[in-house]
Amino acid sequence: MSSDKYISNARKPKGSLGKKFIRHMNEHHKELIDWGFEHIKVPRKAEALDVGCGGGYTVRLLRKKYKCKKVYGVDYSKTSVKMAKKATRFLRNVKIKHGNVSSLPFRNKKFDLVTAVETIYYWPDIEKDFLEIYRILKKNGQFLIICEDCIPGNEVMKDMKIYTQNEIHKLLIHTGYKEVQTFRTNNWVCAIAKK
Ligand SMILES: C[S@@+](CC[C@H](N)C(=O)[O-])C[C@H]1O[C@@H](n2cnc3c(N)ncnc32)[C@H](O)[C@@H]1O
Repeated sequence: MSSDKYISNARKPKGSLGKKFIRHMNEHHKELIDWGFEHIKVPRKAEALDVGCGGGYTVRLLRKKYKCKKVYGVDYSKTSVKMAKKATRFLRNVKIKHGNVSSLPFRNKKFDLVTAVETIYYWPDIEKDFLEIYRILKKNGQFLIICEDCIPGNEVMKDMKIYTQNEIHKLLIHTGYKEVQTFRTNNWVCAIAKK
């Protein structure tokens, strides 16, 4: 198996290799996700969505640790959807959907919180996609972005774009978000912004 083939599952997990990659991500991203969540106060009883939910680790966290009232996960990979459904099958008030960030299957102003972990690198039109998330957030709803890498040039495949902390900050302001805050430690970056 070529390592390129394995790594390409980060963009859109597929088949048995995709499942293996998802299991790896569920373990490997824990510390990064905990660090990102240190910067945000998750409102009690929030209605939350994790975009690019992969194997469902963040969906579980939002429901179990942060006690969100209802949590959705969306991913455009059928393999991710399958794995996330399996990982959350015993949790009530969790729903995993197949969908693309560019056209999310939700009404306007639905969510108190939208999270995006290790996924914005692959979004097809970052400005439009940030606006799509803006559309489904309630007023004062929060958008949390967490990325393991913010050094352009470190891309490991085509159809991937790594954003710097400053680029993410500016993009959020440019797309209409307020109270934008970004944080960095080593190569990790996270951003919190409000509608
Ligand atoms: C590197 S994985 C991260 C998964 C998960 N968030 C985690 O931290 O373990 C990226 C995920 O984003 C999903 N993804 C990429 N582009 C997407 C898009 N345009 N719409 C929805 N999901 C997308 C991929 O299918 C994949 O499951």
